[in-house]
Amino acid sequence: MNGPERPSTYLRENLMLEIRQVTRRFGANTAVRDVTLEIEQGQMVGVIGRSGAGKSTLLRMINRLIDPSSGSIFFHGEEVSALRGADLRRWQRDCAMIFQQFNLVPRLDVLTNVLLGRLNHRSTVLNLLNMFTREERIGAIAALERLDIAQTALQRAGTLSGGQQQRVAIARALMQEPKVILADEPIASLDPLNAKVVMDSLADINAREGITVITNLHTLDTARAYCNRIVGMAKGAIVFDGPPEALTRDAVRMIYGGEEGAELSEAITSTSISLPETRARKSSGHAVPALATA
Ligand SMILES: Nc1ncnc2c1ncn2[C@@H]1O[C@H](COP(=O)(O)OP(=O)(O)O)[C@@H](O)[C@H]1O
Ligand SMILES: [Mg+2]
Repeated sequence: MNGPERPSTYLRENLMLEIRQVTRRFGANTAVRDVTLEIEQGQMVGVIGRSGAGKSTLLRMINRLIDPSSGSIFFHGEEVSALRGADLRRWQRDCAMIFQQFNLVPRLDVLTNVLLGRLNHRSTVLNLLNMFTREERIGAIAALERLDIAQTALQRAGTLSGGQQQRVAIARALMQEPKVILADEPIASLDPLNAKVVMDSLADINAREGITVITNLHTLDTARAYCNRIVGMAKGAIVFDGPPEALTRDAVRMIYGGEEGAELSEAITSTSISLPETRARKSSGHAVPALATA
């Protein structure tokens, strides 16, 4: 294929996603500033930073919900930031998105919501007829069982609790058979108990299926507990990239900024979510703390 020039690191083992000098402007405001990031297959990456740091914009550009102003994004050497039409839909099927507000269809039952994850796999005619195969229905029930909410299959999605709805959203994402799961503050609207259930589910999918998970998180302790790589953003730029162990007080201050008078503590950036029993962290040799570019 005579595509655009391949990234220099294309042949690096396990390299999956490469974000190259990506910038996104909204008018005069630069939401994401010259971000370069390489993500390997199977990583569980937590993106942290203050509100407005550019976390959602970065995630949405990967999924192509919005386009970069400049720069490019590659997936296994293919430039996803240039895809159109059916190729773009294939990419959006490969990277499932999970949102803070779940984005289910509240009037439809849970099972149908999960089956909607299959839509991009199917022909338009079958979709129009709203017909799902027996295998797809069995798969949807299995996904719900895995998330421990199969008993809700016939309820309207809108009647479920937030924690249950987010689990439905994860089941729907699984039905896409994604290569990457992008989660934008998946637990920001949940109480600590449900937050833990949802994060445990994402970690389990990451560990068992080896699906790469990139999740924006507004709390530091969650990122530390669940992610083997943490990316810190401030004012649109990456100011930290490394394992949780490298996230020192100074690094935290760099990410969240040292407000005068307000002593920065983990409590500010923390929910009271309890730690998972097993911290199945894979060691990640790639990551070094990024230098602050003041
Ligand atoms: N659709 C948009 N139109 C205009 N400005 C936007 C839009 N989306 C995000 N922004 C701006 O871009 C910056 C980064 O936002 P966002 O990516 O949502 O940050 P975060 O997710 O870290 O809170 C903010 O200043 C925000 O106001
Ligand atoms: Mg956001």
